Amino acid sequence: MGTLPDTRLGRTTSFDMSAKQSSKIRVFLRTRPTSNFAQDMIEFIPDSNNINIHAKKNEKRGVVNNQLLDWTFKMDGILHNASQEQVFETVGADVVNRALDGYNATIMCYGQTGAGKTFTMTGATENYQQRGLIPRVISAVYQQIEKRVEQSVSIRISYLEIYNENMFDLLSTLPEAFVGTQAMTIIEDEYGVSIKGLACT
Ligand SMILES: Nc1ncnc2c1ncn2[C@@H]1O[C@H](COP(=O)(O)OP(=O)(O)O)[C@@H](O)[C@H]1O
Ligand SMILES: [Mg+2]
Repeated sequence: MGTLPDTRLGRTTSFDMSAKQSSKIRVFLRTRPTSNFAQDMIEFIPDSNNINIHAKKNEKRGVVNNQLLDWTFKMDGILHNASQEQVFETVGADVVNRALDGYNATIMCYGQTGAGKTFTMTGATENYQQRGLIPRVISAVYQQIEKRVEQSVSIRISYLEIYNENMFDLLSTLPEAFVGTQAMTIIEDEYGVSIKGLACT
């Protein structure tokens, strides 16, 4: 969904990551204030849902170079300093409804280490307010099912972690020593891609 204006003039490159009306993928940016925020390089404008990135010119590459210095990304929303509740309301609630309407649904977090992916998905365990998307979505699924009396729904849960290109079954009750010997494998069949050997409740 990127639009690339003429960058030979050395001006801003813009990427429109926001959804066009019926588009199925929505992109949100979650930001939070930090003591060492790179204010000169990252500028976000919540009203327009734009984020501007300004890179510093690398002097070593000479005065005349075609190095890109400015990018603009348009999001579906910017969640600045948002609570876990607000993140769920904006990102999660609709996904639950669509899943129960019969569509596949995915929520994915992307960012560098320390950006807040685990905090967003799992949340902090110290208090209930800090719980993340996964516990909130699971609870919303059960609430919705209670309301949808005309629908018959079955729920199955798997919990897979991919870390350093290795798969870990987070619901496996087998002792760790056994997990390695019962290796999981990725298979593709007429139902799509799945993981053989992954626990499913
Ligand atoms: N929005 C937030 N509000 C408060 N603390 C946060 C927030 N996002 C992340 N943190 C904290 O910052 C640290 C790094 O976040 P984490 O989710 O572990 O990053 P990642 O999984 O992307 O590597 C953790 O201690 C986490 O609790
Ligand atoms: Mg993490």
